[in-house]
Amino acid sequence: MLAELISENQPCVALTGAGVSTESGIPDFRSPSGIWAEYDPYEVASIDGFRRDPARVWEFYARRLDVLAGAQPNPAHHALAQLEERGMVRAVITQNVDGLHASAGSRDVIEVHGSIATASCTACGRREERERIRELLPLPRCVDCGTVLKPDVVMFGELLPSSAIDRASDLARNAALLLVVGSSLEVWPVAGLPEETLARGGCLAIVNREPTPYDLRAALVLHGSAGGILEQCVRTMTSSS
Ligand code: APR
Repeated sequence: MLAELISENQPCVALTGAGVSTESGIPDFRSPSGIWAEYDPYEVASIDGFRRDPARVWEFYARRLDVLAGAQPNPAHHALAQLEERGMVRAVITQNVDGLHASAGSRDVIEVHGSIATASCTACGRREERERIRELLPLPRCVDCGTVLKPDVVMFGELLPSSAIDRASDLARNAALLLVVGSSLEVWPVAGLPEETLARGGCLAIVNREPTPYDLRAALVLHGSAGGILEQCVRTMTSSS
């Protein structure tokens, strides 16, 4: 079913969320065991929270850096990279900041919520890489001007990088199929991308453990493991080619 839907509805664009990385050992946000069950997003992932108590935000991100340091791409990431390789997926729009799509070999990845791989000085713009950030913990400061660095991830209350969200909207508008993998589709403006596909006559396929607000409008909904489902999809394509 999914393999046929992708083959028959080109171009296909993937839209992923934290659910594509849970099989790499990275917790998602809104599952019962997700990160927001343990942390208050306003406190550790909003720009107001960062300005109020940057040390608290860095304590949260230091832990995320540790979790991501050991994470490897899982079969879902590899399957999406293989689908791109076969010309079946044009690009991956991801809300994830873990860099695992690129590690799995996906070449055209749009990180609409930024990346945890770097942090920047909000005063002078100096950018530091992950290794240097870890040396500067627990409260990384700019070596040039002393200002506290901010992780290069989009926090609640911030605008998304305009080039990324503009390209993501363009891809969604022109997709014959938007393949959503591992997202609750609850956070805007990304949650508006499936609407852009539908509005232009495209269709949705949703691979997600739990229901999403778009399930009733999707051509196909598969509630299950992203890794297992996408691996099976590539196997089906391979055996029928
Ligand atoms: N296979 C399929 N689906 C899964 C799997 C899996 N292995 N693991 C989790 N899921 C599903 C969950 O059921 C959930 O509906 O993935 C979805 C993840 O949803 P969220 O935790 O809300 O993550 P996401 O949609 O990426 O959140 C968007 O919110 O907090 C912000 O910036 C953060 O980018 C994030 C944004």
